[in-house]
Amino acid sequence: MAGKGKVGIIGSGLIGRSFSMLFASVGYTVVLYDNVPTQIENALKETEKELKALEAKGLLRGKLNASQQFALISGTTDIKVLVKDAIFIQECIPERLDWKQALYKQLDEVVEEQTILSSSTSTFLPSLFSKDLKHQSNVLVSHPVNPPYYVPLVEVVPAPWTKPEVVQKTRAIMEEIGQKPVVLSREIEGFVLNRIQYAILNETWRLVDSGIVDVKDVDSVMSDGLGMRYAFLGPLETAHLNAEGMTNYFERYTNTMYAVSQTMGPTPKMEGPTAVEIAKQLEVMVPLDKLAERRNYRDNCLTQLSILKKKLNE
Ligand SMILES: NC(=O)c1ccc[n+]([C@@H]2O[C@H](COP(=O)([O-])OP(=O)(O)OC[C@H]3O[C@@H](n4cnc5c(N)ncnc54)[C@H](O)[C@@H]3O)[C@@H](O)[C@H]2O)c1
Ligand SMILES: *[C@@H]1O[C@H](CO)[C@@H](O)[C@H](O)[C@H]1NC(C)=O
Ligand SMILES: *[C@@H]1O[C@H](CO)[C@@H](O)[C@H](O)[C@H]1NC(C)=O
Repeated sequence: MAGKGKVGIIGSGLIGRSFSMLFASVGYTVVLYDNVPTQIENALKETEKELKALEAKGLLRGKLNASQQFALISGTTDIKVLVKDAIFIQECIPERLDWKQALYKQLDEVVEEQTILSSSTSTFLPSLFSKDLKHQSNVLVSHPVNPPYYVPLVEVVPAPWTKPEVVQKTRAIMEEIGQKPVVLSREIEGFVLNRIQYAILNETWRLVDSGIVDVKDVDSVMSDGLGMRYAFLGPLETAHLNAEGMTNYFERYTNTMYAVSQTMGPTPKMEGPTAVEIAKQLEVMVPLDKLAERRNYRDNCLTQLSILKKKLNE
């Protein structure tokens, strides 16, 4: 166990707790920092419970047992304790730009030269909260997907001034903890995952808005159709296999794809009566007081899928 360095986690909510477990699973010493003391106490309690539950189900990651992993995680409300000797800090505070900017300013005063500052932000470009920092070349985004323990993707996004070796080291650390990093060459709004997700939502909206299909059926196109493949192959490899290779796919479908795409229309603004109607149909499918139950269902499916994927790729 000894020998692995120390990692700091800022914010002990959903994402912070997941990252703590991921780092501890390969033997890092983890210090979890929060500005709300009760949050840390809760987070540590929950983490211990979760590690034990994962162990009981045979789903614990890494080679250490649950008590060994839990022993690696400690909490603090002192930012100096957090930063001391840390090789890597993963920031997981709420998605508020002013909060993140204030926190990074505070970190900038105390952080050591070698420490990488990595943000879990889903939406903010790293330049927005690192611009005026002394340590700006050590800052970048590592955007996870919920729940990170079962969905391995992490989007690594540098600011214009992030050092290349910081990007490389972050990629290596994410691989080491068993995640699947993809590295963007530069920052862009929405990163990659949300740009693709929004393109899907755009077209889903249009199809419901124009009365072609209802909410249930359009979702079924993904969960019973496209999504079945996409859990294993991306859209490009899917296309490659759907013809005699990609060159052949382009020969066959370039004109069709272009012609269909021309009928898609302008970017929809998702508001007004259609927004009300879509929400209404979804609340019939999943009433608002059943969201937690449905999230459990989702997480259980993702757990089973990650086990299946591991088995198929062995
Ligand atoms: N939840 C998701 O699905 C998801 C997915 C990917 C990325 N993210 C991103 O991860 C980040 C965290 O999200 P979350 O869902 O875990 O949030 P959360 O609300 O569950 O947890 C945030 C924690 O940060 C603490 N906190 C707030 N301000 C702080 C400060 N200044 N210093 C230290 N601690 C502070 C809070 O007390 C809380 O414990 C956000 O940027 C979010 O966009 C979330
Ligand atoms: C976990 O491993 C340690 C070290 O091998 C051992 O002492 C401890 O008893 C184990 N705990 C459980 C619950 O298996
Ligand atoms: C829909 O969303 C995508 C991805 O965010 C965006 O790039 C595109 O311009 C939007 N508009 C259309 C017409 O698809």
